[in-house]
Amino acid sequence: MIEVFADKDALSLAAAVLFARQAQKAIADHGRFSVLLAGGETPRRTYELLAREPLCRQIPWPQVHLFWGDERCVPADDPSSNVLMAHRAFIDSLQLNDRQLHPIRCERQPERAAANYEAELRRFFGEQPPRFDLVFLGLGEDGHTASLLPGSEALQEEIRWTAVTRRSHEPFSRITVTAPLINQAVLVVFLVTGRNKAKVFRSILEATSRTLYPAQLIMPQQGALHWWLDQEAAGEKRGDTVANG
Ligand code: 6PG
Repeated sequence: MIEVFADKDALSLAAAVLFARQAQKAIADHGRFSVLLAGGETPRRTYELLAREPLCRQIPWPQVHLFWGDERCVPADDPSSNVLMAHRAFIDSLQLNDRQLHPIRCERQPERAAANYEAELRRFFGEQPPRFDLVFLGLGEDGHTASLLPGSEALQEEIRWTAVTRRSHEPFSRITVTAPLINQAVLVVFLVTGRNKAKVFRSILEATSRTLYPAQLIMPQQGALHWWLDQEAAGEKRGDTVANG
């Protein structure tokens, strides 16, 4: 389902409200809420709203488990770290227990980091299917999501839940979850804002082949897939009617 919001602030608020509602539902249903956080810049505002009233007190934080969809293999204090971004945006404002935080740690040895993260995921889900209650994803201008990058072998992965990828122009590797893991989620929501994403979103929407963009691999088997965009990313001019999130 595609929803278009007036602007990034409206989308960010709707995403934060969705997080709170999904957390309440999941915890009432099975006692915990597992969420896969997106990296990059788009979700920062959503995360900030989670640590502020009124939403903060609506979220049963002790039962929330935070995982990351991907991480850059950089020092923990590097500004490009997705884990650091989430800590600065909301986690550090909350009194969460370390057992609720499941960061990808990959400063060195990316292959080992991917294996360690897969082990963490398997420990958490145990014998149950790895059905995240909520997955937030971003979209790159080249159609990547998480760190499932165009041309990477990770796109063909059908078994493992994590992989190592690398962009030619970046001095670091990336650890990413794979489509087989994401596609077992209960609810996957792409958060896409900005005029610079309009072209790739339109291409994905109109693609006749399923192998053009990594984001096209995201098709939850038994879950729901939502595309949430602001008007700029949706390629709509300002002032059109807008669905409420
Ligand atoms: C990453 C992200 C990546 C991101 C998109 C969009 O680590 O790079 O996980 O998938 O979501 O590149 O990034 P922006 O939100 O910064 O546009």
